Amino acid sequence: MLATALRVPEDAATREVAPREVPSLKAPAAPLARPETPRSATGIGVTIRDLKKDFDGHTVIEGLDLHIPAGQFVAVVGRSGCGKSTLLRLILGLESPSAGRIGLESQAVRTPTKRIMFQEPRLLPWARVVDNVAVGLGEGGTRADRRAKAQTALAEVGLTEKAGNWPATLSGGQRQRVALARALVSHPGLLALDEPLGALDALTRIDMQAMIERIWQAQGFTAILVTHDVAEAVALADRILVVEAGRIALDVSVDVPRPRRRGDADLAALEGRILDHLLSERAPA
Ligand SMILES: Nc1ncnc2c1ncn2[C@@H]1O[C@H](COP(=O)(O)OP(=O)(O)OP(=O)(O)O)[C@@H](O)[C@H]1O
Ligand SMILES: [Mg+2]
Repeated sequence: MLATALRVPEDAATREVAPREVPSLKAPAAPLARPETPRSATGIGVTIRDLKKDFDGHTVIEGLDLHIPAGQFVAVVGRSGCGKSTLLRLILGLESPSAGRIGLESQAVRTPTKRIMFQEPRLLPWARVVDNVAVGLGEGGTRADRRAKAQTALAEVGLTEKAGNWPATLSGGQRQRVALARALVSHPGLLALDEPLGALDALTRIDMQAMIERIWQAQGFTAILVTHDVAEAVALADRILVVEAGRIALDVSVDVPRPRRRGDADLAALEGRILDHLLSERAPA
């Protein structure tokens, strides 16, 4: 199959880089081996080498090495201000590295898109729901074609009947589902999620987590989820990265089969150990 190399920046390396040694956690019963990442023809793989990012002379990320295979679901956790959103923005190409390389690779014949979803849905108040979703398609295509694709994406998130609504008439959870449909309508190879469920109530969060997992399994994109909720990270991810002072302090596989049961003892133990690690860290300046 044709391999398409997407490069950020232009000279970015696309070869696999061995990850730097980081401490790893052991599961209670058996060592946490790297899980089998689902083979993905649509996902974008990410290889980061010796990444550095400064803002006004203040170093936020330094010496960060990482490889994310195409199709993997990665959760990123860490204290507020440690550089999680900056890392996402660098991977998405929304920020330029001060030094180092970010390489993106895909097996897809057509270059897949990268999309990001934020804690707030950022919908256009003057556009109906279906047209907000169509924004995710970018330019081009007939209005009818764009609306048909948007309707399909709305059906994926269970909001078909709200297509003609104004955003102001939706609940907070429904608005986030519209934002999810907008992110998915272009069939991205990489979906970055920056605290997308942070403002939702607990039950809506659980519903949305299941929805995101189901769509990820069906579509095969690479998912990078930044979350403050360690329980959410262990419930959803194949792998959890703990970022500390701009580096990956911990790189843990979640070797628990799906569907995962809430209250699973291995997940709870892993959550406890990651929380212990976070609590033992010094808060960023
Ligand atoms: N555009 C910018 N200009 C200057 N400093 C920035 C910029 N973006 C981020 N920073 C700084 O970089 C550091 C990391 O910010 P970042 O938003 O990546 O943290 P975070 O881990 O996502 O935090 P939180 O969990 O609170 O969202 C912070 O000190 C922040 O002030
Ligand atoms: Mg952030």
